[in-house]
Amino acid sequence: MEKRKVFVTRSIPEAGLALLRQQKNVRLIVSPHDRVLTRAELLRGVKGADAILCLLTDKIDGAVMDSAGPQLKGIANYAVGFDNIDLAAAKKRGIWVSNTPGASTNAVAEHAVALLLALMHRLPEADRFVRAGKYKGWAPMLLTGSELPGRTLGIVGVGRIGSALAHRLADGFGLRVVYSDVIRNIQLEKQFKAKRLSLRQLLRQADVVSLHVPLLPSTRHLIGAKELKLMKPTAYLINTSRGPVVDEKALVTALRHQTIAGAGLDVYEFEPKLAPGLAKLNNVILTPHIASATLEARTAMAIMAAKNIIHIIAGKRPPHLAQ
Ligand code: GLV
Ligand code: GLV
Repeated sequence: MEKRKVFVTRSIPEAGLALLRQQKNVRLIVSPHDRVLTRAELLRGVKGADAILCLLTDKIDGAVMDSAGPQLKGIANYAVGFDNIDLAAAKKRGIWVSNTPGASTNAVAEHAVALLLALMHRLPEADRFVRAGKYKGWAPMLLTGSELPGRTLGIVGVGRIGSALAHRLADGFGLRVVYSDVIRNIQLEKQFKAKRLSLRQLLRQADVVSLHVPLLPSTRHLIGAKELKLMKPTAYLINTSRGPVVDEKALVTALRHQTIAGAGLDVYEFEPKLAPGLAKLNNVILTPHIASATLEARTAMAIMAAKNIIHIIAGKRPPHLAQ
């Protein structure tokens, strides 16, 4: 039997790799490096591949597809976001692109809640305070934070993750929900009396703005200096989507001048680099793109990506086509 080469750009959880190893017609090549491949390594590694399993840290453009060769049938991204892949280039070459929708919904929604609670209860500051030996006894106004009930949650992008956040914060914490999206979400409106607003209206009304849009030309710098100025000085910004959705330099300015109260960020415009001054601010919580990094989500993502690959290898449309 002629074997199909599947190139995996970096090792993923065993549950996914095991599925691929069980395929008799697959020659599985997993990058031996536990790091992002260099451009040259990526171009070399994909050569002769029938399918590529890649990560959001791999830039997959037409040149990578051409380096693989004309037998390349599909690309399976180990991520829900797929802005790292040139979809137009893939389409032109008749190559399928798949992602892992739904696998990380709970993890990311939970992480957004965690960032928000940590900000409002000042957990990182409080933790640093105790560790520094500054805790000398209970005090009436020591590290006072603020609470969620009755506040307005503004969700920008109400797909799976945005909707999951609405469930958690409306049901669990008593927030009122408003949203902005290019598509109306009637389910959300019915269930939570969520009001659809323009982005400008949302930014003016929300006490918490949480971003859940994909990175597209239309969402790059969706939140810039002008938008940050519309936000309340008491409002928090949470970003677990993609860094470039926010103009990070403008955000640093807003946080420094406290024109907004704080931010919880899991993603960065030029990650892993941070905008100058960001890490010096006290009113921001920074996590290293780990919103989907639960064992549950990463395992589900690995299995989903592997299943997409198995379809691709069989010449069948992958179940989770990126679109
Ligand atoms: C993570 O950022 C993902 O897109 O799955
Ligand atoms: C991602 O899963 C989304 O649609 O929000």
